[in-house]
Amino acid sequence: MLADSDPTEHLWMHFTTLRAQRDVAPMMVRGEGCYVWDSDGRRYLDGLSGLFTVQVGHGRVELADAAREQAATLAYFPVWGFANEPAVALADRLAAMAPGDLNRAFFTPSGGDAVETAIKLSRQYWKLRGEPMRTKVISRYLAYHGTSIGALSLTGVPSIKSVFEPLMPGAIKVQTPYRYRCGDCMHLDACTLRCADDVALRIEMEGPETVAAVFMEPVQNTGGAFVPPEGYWARVREICDHYGVLLVSDEVISAFGRFGHMFGSLRYGYQPDMITFAKGITSGYSPLGGVMVSDRISEPFVDAPVAFLQGQTFGAHPVSCAVANANLDVFEREDLCGHVLANQDRFKSLIESLRDIPLVGDVRGDGYFLAIELVTDQVSRGTFSPEQADWLLRDHLSPRLFAAGLICRADDRGEPVITLSPPLIAGEEEFALIASTLRDVLTDADREFRTRQ
Ligand SMILES: Cc1ncc(COP(=O)(O)O)c(C=O)c1O
Repeated sequence: MLADSDPTEHLWMHFTTLRAQRDVAPMMVRGEGCYVWDSDGRRYLDGLSGLFTVQVGHGRVELADAAREQAATLAYFPVWGFANEPAVALADRLAAMAPGDLNRAFFTPSGGDAVETAIKLSRQYWKLRGEPMRTKVISRYLAYHGTSIGALSLTGVPSIKSVFEPLMPGAIKVQTPYRYRCGDCMHLDACTLRCADDVALRIEMEGPETVAAVFMEPVQNTGGAFVPPEGYWARVREICDHYGVLLVSDEVISAFGRFGHMFGSLRYGYQPDMITFAKGITSGYSPLGGVMVSDRISEPFVDAPVAFLQGQTFGAHPVSCAVANANLDVFEREDLCGHVLANQDRFKSLIESLRDIPLVGDVRGDGYFLAIELVTDQVSRGTFSPEQADWLLRDHLSPRLFAAGLICRADDRGEPVITLSPPLIAGEEEFALIASTLRDVLTDADREFRTRQ
């Protein structure tokens, strides 16, 4: 049945034009380790872990077994008023791993739901604390936090928001730490932290008594792996404390080993009031997200007659929680965080070696999460016109990289970037294949770009 099915007729692929889907709808049918195979039997190196998700790699039978066993024992029961064993065990494990007093886990079906939940929890928390005016949320330009209306309001990418306006009011944006193009510090030896101070400026402008929470990723994905400058997180935490605003670390991509630590905030040494997570918690073998919540935030709910007024049918799904536990077993047994820490420098140096290609402007990132920002000219850091970017990314790089058997992301929600985020089991063989494929395809792209000018 599968071999005959036509992917262009009834399935609606996400963030994909139906026109593109009609022309090309590659269908992946199998995965093993860092590789996936399409329905024509072609092999691809999964340089994006699906979507920053498949941390332990594809084809892990023990995760499938965990799902099967849980489905056969108790496939489903709602977490509305009932606990289930895998969810309790998972919450215990996460509380032990999470930084500081983030001792409670609220499980959701996805990352966007986790963000939505954190927005709602921050609002209800402030109502219970007697500060009902604190409803506004702050996030960064370009950042992606999900697609439901609340999460989309936090998202700072106008091109995916405007058709849904008006969105949630009171979603304020602040500067992204983007040193490569920062008008303030790109020519200085160090960042001035004006990007962090922008949070204080916005809180002052909005009125501190109206601001509920700040949402940020440890390393921002959209725009290309923006690593926080030295001192950034300490300053943001200090500002949030000063104004009594909650700090939510959106770790939907950054948690579960991406930077060699179980949480991105542990890598960068700051204490959030909440962490949102998803993706790598199950390595994608079953959908699950959630929010780790500090004692300070759960405290007013502990003896109150009110519940947190949030819930989803598939929240804390027993099968997904069982898969997450099996996934964390793999992390422990194979010391995946240790593997990332031991290999990240080699990965970075191979990608850095592409800097001799004139299109390569910047290489940045951390752990198993790197981005290459493309430029028209390295010295002036020249940017592409929309038509040039469109040709480069959509007509050239995306199809050529795919044809060369490398799945990664060529993205222009900011300046054109190529994002890499391989499964955490990747090593020398995969790094070398990624680097050589990128060298071939970027060298070609560079030549064609210059002939077109
Ligand atoms: C930082 C961040 N937050 C939230 C989300 C939304 O997660 P989901 O796609 O599971 O709803 C994403 C998705 O990529 C993300 O990268």
